[in-house]
Amino acid sequence: MTSHYFLLLFGTLVLLSKTIAADPVHIISQNLEQTVTSSTLQWVSTDGKDPGVLRFGVVAAYQTSDVSNEPVPPEGGEGTDNDIVKNHAEPVYVCRAKVTGVWVTGQLRPKNHVCIASLYKKVEEYHQFEVLINIDHAARLSWVGKNKYTNIPQGAVTSGENVLRTFVGRKSTGNPKKTGSLTHYVGTFNPSENLGVYHLVDESNIEIPFEDGDLLVETEPTAYEFKQIKYRRTGRRFPKKKLIFGETVLKNDEAGLQKVDSVMTYNYTYFLSWGKGHGMLTGLPYTVLLPNGGKVESIWALPKPQEKVETIPVEKLLEEGTAVNITLVGNYTELEIPYIATVVALYKDGERLEFTIEDIKRENKVIDIGFEFSPVYFLHNNSFVPTTTTTTTTTTTTTTTTTRTTSTTQDVTPMVSPEVVIRRKQEELHAASKTSDNLNDEDNTIRIASSLEKKPDRPASSATSLVSLLSSVYVILTVTLRLL
Ligand SMILES: *[C@@H]1O[C@H](CO)[C@@H](O)[C@H](O)[C@H]1NC(C)=O
Ligand SMILES: *[C@@H]1O[C@H](CO)[C@@H](O)[C@H](O)[C@H]1NC(C)=O
Ligand SMILES: *[C@@H]1O[C@H](CO)[C@@H](O)[C@H](O)[C@H]1NC(C)=O
Ligand SMILES: *[C@@H]1O[C@H](CO)[C@@H](O)[C@H](O)[C@H]1NC(C)=O
Repeated sequence: MTSHYFLLLFGTLVLLSKTIAADPVHIISQNLEQTVTSSTLQWVSTDGKDPGVLRFGVVAAYQTSDVSNEPVPPEGGEGTDNDIVKNHAEPVYVCRAKVTGVWVTGQLRPKNHVCIASLYKKVEEYHQFEVLINIDHAARLSWVGKNKYTNIPQGAVTSGENVLRTFVGRKSTGNPKKTGSLTHYVGTFNPSENLGVYHLVDESNIEIPFEDGDLLVETEPTAYEFKQIKYRRTGRRFPKKKLIFGETVLKNDEAGLQKVDSVMTYNYTYFLSWGKGHGMLTGLPYTVLLPNGGKVESIWALPKPQEKVETIPVEKLLEEGTAVNITLVGNYTELEIPYIATVVALYKDGERLEFTIEDIKRENKVIDIGFEFSPVYFLHNNSFVPTTTTTTTTTTTTTTTTTRTTSTTQDVTPMVSPEVVIRRKQEELHAASKTSDNLNDEDNTIRIASSLEKKPDRPASSATSLVSLLSSVYVILTVTLRLL
């Protein structure tokens, strides 16, 4: 069973790696001298029989098929040509073969599975070759006229490189009606020979030189737009990570009951990625039109984590001479959601080219933010302010649920600044009466935490002691997280 599975897997891998054996395609850069690597085109080595490869093959011509045979509709290469002969015509793909160490452009005719290419008037059929592939049909391709008086246009697709840089060329034959005839002769354009010569091959495998013809040109977009985003249900959400964003103390050192407020600032790393690849230019700006009407702008395939800084107001009613500690907490999470979107490539001349991609949206962000209040304490002696009611309200975090009964002798103590000496002890004491939300999963740490409890202030009822127990766990967690 397992070995079968392994074999199957192995088979897939072999297949994949076979398809993936590809060379980059270089096109003429903006300065019309150097070349850049195309992100949308590839030379893929093939035996010419794999329809999966040919689906994205670049069509250079059509060959009129034998009308007496069953007509095969042209497949792939949609929209690359204006002068497509649709009836009884089959696509001829751009291929290249290595002839005595030099790449030469050729043509892959229907049903032939060989690349027909020529070098120095010698036309041959090559069984080992590469086909020019337009990944996801994302490239905007055109055939641009070039003769000895015009320059090689920006985006012209090279086929031979290094010593002899050549280009993919073709020329219209004018009469494609007869069975077996081609709409275009296809072959190599050599710019360094005699101010530029096309060496093209006709349907009878004869090389014909031309002074003028068309070069295959890729026009690169200036931006992308994502629309019609559909999310899949199979998204993955990683466990939430609780983060402590900050702590502050609200204190009322004025007279009487006061509403004390403050603003807390927090920061976190936000990350959003819509994927990479798909023949789309790395580094190009794109806009995502979200299903909810929103908009996101980014740079394709180079997502940068962003440091986000946000502020949130906090307030609390405090009696004279009392204070409360506030901890700002939040849940940080990572999401992965597969999606399908229509991508529109935008061009300088206003042209828009649409294609569909499937990828995964990844987002890291804070999804919940909230406050945790300590019990209110006296500023001058750090002991807790007794609450009038002992009822616990666990629904809101803003309710301080102090269940402690402080022995209150009514001696008037003079107001002094908080004693540092007793801080440590107080911290432990205070730990016992934190709010008790969200702590149901961590029962295994309860026992350890409870050892930190101070005996004298423990309330009698078992229900409330559970609350305190849970609360102290919470503090332990907080400390651990802070250490992290
Ligand atoms: C907030 O910013 C500080 C300093 O810029 C940084 O050290 C810290 O890791 C950031 N916090 C988060 C949660 O990203
Ligand atoms: C964080 O996530 C937990 C678990 O889902 C939840 O109970 C808690 O309320 C969240 N925290 C905040 C501050 O909302
Ligand atoms: C702290 O001060 C308050 C009010 O002044 C008083 O009620 C309380 O008993 C004092 N606590 C201790 C432990 O002295
Ligand atoms: C309040 O915060 C201070 C430090 O800012 C700490 O020493 C004290 O123990 C805290 N008190 C409570 C009740 O959490």
